[in-house]
Amino acid sequence: MSNIIPEIVKRRTFAIISHPDAGKTTLTEKLLLYGGAIRLAGSVKARKAQKHAVSDWMEIEKQRGISVTSSVLQFDYDGFRVNILDTPGHQDFSEDTYRTLMAADSAVMLIDAAKGVEDQTKKLFQVCKQRGIPVFTFVNKLDRYGRNPFELMEEIEKVLGIRAYPMNWPIGIDGNYSGVYIREQAQIELFEHSGVHGQCALPSTKGGVDDPAFKELLGDEIHQALCDDIELLDMAGEEFDFAKVAGGELTPMFFGSAMTNFGVRLFLEDFLRLAPAPMPRESSEGLIAPDDEKFSAFVFKIQANMNPAHRDRLAFMRICSGKFERGMAVYHAQSGKSVKLAQPQQFLAQERTIIDEAYPGDIVGLFDPGIFGIGDTLCQEGFEFTFRDFPVFPPEQFARVQAKDTMKRKQFIKGMTQLTQEGAVQVFRQPDYPVESFIIGVVGSLQFEVLEYRLKHEYGVDILMNKLPYSIARWLYGPNLDVKSMKNMDNGLLIQDIKDRPVALISNEWQLRWVMERNPDIEFLIVPEDA
Ligand code: G4P
Repeated sequence: MSNIIPEIVKRRTFAIISHPDAGKTTLTEKLLLYGGAIRLAGSVKARKAQKHAVSDWMEIEKQRGISVTSSVLQFDYDGFRVNILDTPGHQDFSEDTYRTLMAADSAVMLIDAAKGVEDQTKKLFQVCKQRGIPVFTFVNKLDRYGRNPFELMEEIEKVLGIRAYPMNWPIGIDGNYSGVYIREQAQIELFEHSGVHGQCALPSTKGGVDDPAFKELLGDEIHQALCDDIELLDMAGEEFDFAKVAGGELTPMFFGSAMTNFGVRLFLEDFLRLAPAPMPRESSEGLIAPDDEKFSAFVFKIQANMNPAHRDRLAFMRICSGKFERGMAVYHAQSGKSVKLAQPQQFLAQERTIIDEAYPGDIVGLFDPGIFGIGDTLCQEGFEFTFRDFPVFPPEQFARVQAKDTMKRKQFIKGMTQLTQEGAVQVFRQPDYPVESFIIGVVGSLQFEVLEYRLKHEYGVDILMNKLPYSIARWLYGPNLDVKSMKNMDNGLLIQDIKDRPVALISNEWQLRWVMERNPDIEFLIVPEDA
């Protein structure tokens, strides 16, 4: 048996998915607080407020006070090694947000109790579903008025198509809940309202539902309402079945308030107990088990210019198997070269440090001399394979870009090529367009700004950027496909991706349906076939 198994089974690597303002920063901070990684809550938020996120490298991040790219936070709790993949939470989320999910073994879906399932949550949930990532739900902001918990369960089921299994249930009156009922233990946990606004862990008392002391504390009416709810849940609900969670059919649902710490410890402990440790990953050689002695990892994110003085790039790799040791040489499948992994970095709650060893589930930042691309495989020499390709995420916004000064054409092409390789934007061409230009596609409009900023600062190229009135891209397939004779494309645009595959840009869903109806022999795919 491999001696790295104890290291693997204690690892929990996950991302929090949510819509902006649901409380992701607050929850992350509270998890760090309970994990002992920070002493007082407020530090992560304070940095956000001061417009200095943990990943404070890019000027644009500072200007906007947001984290453009994701970082990783690590702490130990109760024998577990926890890796939280921090996904950009701003309205302008990007492909990086999606890609981060590729490195996660599970996801926590954070929902605002008053708002329910919001747009960005839906999109991120879909990616988890497609990739078979188990999703746990935390309903936040229970300290104030929200929707009825049964209604929220129903919404999750209806909108996301997954059954919710409440692990606990709020007790009391909406807007003033006093605790939760823990279903598995048939216990009540009541929280003391501390005046310090969740800066420290929240004290609580626990006891059985039938304990007369709790009955008295809650009052007859609330106690009876709780008993009715429990009965309803037990009758109508289903059994908790972990296979269903792993299979994406069921999401364990928790209630709490990240701000007041209500239910946070309970969530953390149950989540860590139930969430999967690193799992085998698909590769060109079949499944690669995490306890395989030989090292393997893939690059899921590239972050450039963290230090403008050095123009360095960091490639973030997720370890999939074996043990990582500083200075080890690995085989980089895409270039066919051996690469020495010097100066690996890990991201703790507050700072980055050089690390000596890491295990499956861990994320390590590597200095990238410009050879790595998104999705690249790194593995121990003699263990040469590639992990399954990264998916392409459907872009939703498009713009035409060209160099302002045609004399800068060479730098422009070079910059665009490198930024495409990094996965900063998706690039397309319009075959018969007279001027040297690209069409770029992005998931969130912030990517436009990043592209403009980086072309100017790293390649010295000012660009002209014209946004295009399309919101949908479809890759076109069909026998004897002749895109030029497609019908009803007057309001759309026919372009090609970097592999010369034909793509149609279309303004909206209604137009798309219209075009699809008129071209029944053509298949319209959301992502290219081999992605
Ligand atoms: P995000 O990262 O998902 O965007 O959300 P963030 O944690 O920044 O939280 C968004 C707002 O919601 C913040 O309020 C935060 O205090 C509040 N919030 C988070 N969790 C809870 C909760 O459990 N209960 C309540 N009532 N509010 C919560 P803000 O007014 O934007 O900022 P601040 O003035 O509190 O700093």
